[in-house]
Formats: sequence, structure tokens, C-alpha cells
Amino acid sequence: MTTTKEFVGTLVCIQDYEDRAKEVLPAPVFNFYIDHADEGQTMKDCKKAFKRYRLRPRVLKDVSNRQFSTTVLGHPVSFPICISPTALQGFADIEGDKATARAAESLNTIMIVSHCAFFTFEDISLAAPSATIWFQIHLYKDRNLTRFFIKHAERAGFKAVVVTVDSPIMGNRRNMKRGDETMTARKEYRPRMMNCYDPNNPEVRSAIANGDIALWDYLQEQLVTSETWDGIKWLRSITKLPIVVKGILTGDSAREAIQAGVDAILVSAHGGRQLDGVLATIDALPEVVKAVKGSGVEVYIDGGVRQGTDVFKALALGARTVFLGRPIIWGLANDGENGVKKVLEIVRDEFSLTMALAGCSKLDDIKASMVVHESQYLSKL
Ligand SMILES: Cc1cc2nc3c(=O)[nH]c(=O)nc-3n(C[C@H](O)[C@H](O)[C@H](O)COP(=O)(O)O)c2cc1C
Repeated sequence: MTTTKEFVGTLVCIQDYEDRAKEVLPAPVFNFYIDHADEGQTMKDCKKAFKRYRLRPRVLKDVSNRQFSTTVLGHPVSFPICISPTALQGFADIEGDKATARAAESLNTIMIVSHCAFFTFEDISLAAPSATIWFQIHLYKDRNLTRFFIKHAERAGFKAVVVTVDSPIMGNRRNMKRGDETMTARKEYRPRMMNCYDPNNPEVRSAIANGDIALWDYLQEQLVTSETWDGIKWLRSITKLPIVVKGILTGDSAREAIQAGVDAILVSAHGGRQLDGVLATIDALPEVVKAVKGSGVEVYIDGGVRQGTDVFKALALGARTVFLGRPIIWGLANDGENGVKKVLEIVRDEFSLTMALAGCSKLDDIKASMVVHESQYLSKL
């Protein structure tokens, strides 16, 4: 029988990894990862939107030595491609979040751990002690739970808190609604998920009052529809860690985020899993970049980034770095830590190639004038 590992050499792009993940993962699990809100317009459009921007290369520039290491919130990274938080990575690979953290460590990039990780914060930081790890939370109904996560993550050495602000309530996930099977798969992992947050710890025990429900379900119930920017101000008052808000798509929200005291903004549509029909993240990016100008707040993007040219376009339009969501899961599903490394390396190498072909030898060479939206030049033809 052919094993997944034997196939790995033939996978040359992220789409190959996704196709193979579809073959190797149980259907309910793949369906969970690929899930989206409503008709999936935003999930598909985030990918397609990159193709609506065309490149305007420079030529006859010395590109023999290309430099793309940078810093993100002051942390050095080898390339501007980081890892978005994705829940339940342990369905894709038994080592889940630990494998992802090791890949991030060995390639020197940043990982954001989801609030629905499979392992405790300590497990993850011990697995990859020199990795730069941020952690993602929501502003939970129970402020003590939020505080508990923050303090726990601070102790584990995590370097920033990423607050997801696009989820006052869970989006209309159709696969999940359909999926008794998905639910079954999820429940099989219940004991390990409960372990994530050390149920023996009295603080967690009180937070997870009902031991019969999976932590994941519990956390969904903790989403709160009445939350406001005051929640971010409260967060600012209880931690010295930098705060990144994830899920901003407009200049107005970006300005409110700055007023609330955030350090960075991750332009994100939650992979199309929250409000369907919002604008594609790459289309939202320029407005957010413009709104934060002069504030010192960094802007990042995720959603639909699948190849090196996407990274180039995002940087040209003002993102400091991109983040990958599903591609990391496809890497995990194919070959665990090694698969995540391969996925990151593929996008990194494609980005390096794009820089060379576009006449850029350093990140500062990538300018807004090097991309054009197709509407601007097609209308002139
Ligand atoms: C399976 C899955 C789980 C996710 N879990 C979380 C999560 O726990 N917290 C969060 O803020 N975003 C979550 N996201 C959204 C991602 O962080 C990210 O915004 C999105 O996947 C980026 O789009 P991409 O998948 O096209 O790269 C999840 C996305 C997927 C696909």
C-alpha cells in the first residue's frame, strides 16, 4: 500500500496539499476544516480576489541576493508568512498544535495558537521552546475565564494576545449543521480537548462547570453578543502583552481599534466562516492600511493566501506579513510537522521567486505601484 509519505514529494503547491488532505482525512474531518458560512461566497472570494490584482514588475534589477527576513511586532521572522489560529488541529495530525509549533520554530516564523488547541499552552511551548507563539482568544462572557487564559499564556511564554473580534456569535456553518458525523468525530476527541486546559486546575474546573459538554461547545457558549470596544480596553488593563485584533475589515473599525489601544490589526474574514458576503480581505486591506497610517499599528492579513504572488500582492498593498489558515492544516494532514514545514517552504520559495521575477531584492522594494487592480486597467482597454 502506498503511504502518505511516499506521495509527499509529488506535492508542489498548496492546492496539491489540499487535494491530498481530502484523500487522507476522514470526510467529516475534511468537511469541518473546509466549512464556511452560508454559501461560502467570502471563503471563495478571498482566494479569487488575489487574482484580480496584477503585477507590474521591474526589470534589469540585480535580484541575485534576495532578503526577506523581517520583524513582526518586533519579533524577527525569516519570511513574512506566519500561521493563523485554527481550531482542532489534532484531527489532522496526532501531534496537532505541537507539530505546528515545531515547524514554526524550525523555520523561524510566528504561530498563533487557537483557543481550541488540542494541548495545554505549556505542552505547546515545551514542544517548541524557542518558537514565537501568540495565542488567540475571544472576549468571553466569563471575564475570569478570559483572565485565566491570559495569565496562563503569559506564564507559558507566549508573546502576544490575538483577540478575535468578528465572532459575537458563531457564523452559519452549513457543514457543521449537516454533520452528525463531524460532531461524532469531534466528540471522540473530547477527553483530550478537556485536557487542554488542565481540568484539574480549580480555576478551569469552575469555568467548565458542566463536565459533560466538550470544551469546544463550552467556548462557543462563551461568545458574547453584547461585547464592545470597552472589552479591549479592559484587556489592555490586565496584560502587558501586545494586543492584536483579528477580524477587522474596514477603516472605521481600524480607527476604533487604535483608540482602544491595540498594537496590531489582522485583516481577516475568519476564512469565510463568520459573516458571509463580506469583502475579500485583500480588497479590505488598503482601507485599513490607510486608516492606521502614522499610528505605529502594524497591519497583517489572512484569507485565501495560497501562493507566493499572493504574499507579494499583500505586502505591496501594505501588509507587514500574511498568515496562513487552512494551508497549515493541509500540511499537517499530509505529514505532520514536516508537512507544515513543506507548506511554509513552498509559499516562501514562491514568494522569493516572485520577488526575483518582479525585480525586487528586498522587502522595501515591494511598492503599491507594483500591483494594479484589474478594474483599473481593463477599463482603459
Ligand atoms: C478549521 C478552521 C478553524 C479555525 N479556527 C479559528 C479559531 O479558533 N480562532 C480564530 O480566530 N480563527 C479561526 N479560524 C480562522 C483562521 O484563523 C483564519 O482567519 C482563516 O483560516 C484564514 O483563511 P484561509 O484558511 O483561507 O487561510 C479557523 C479557520 C479554519 C479553517
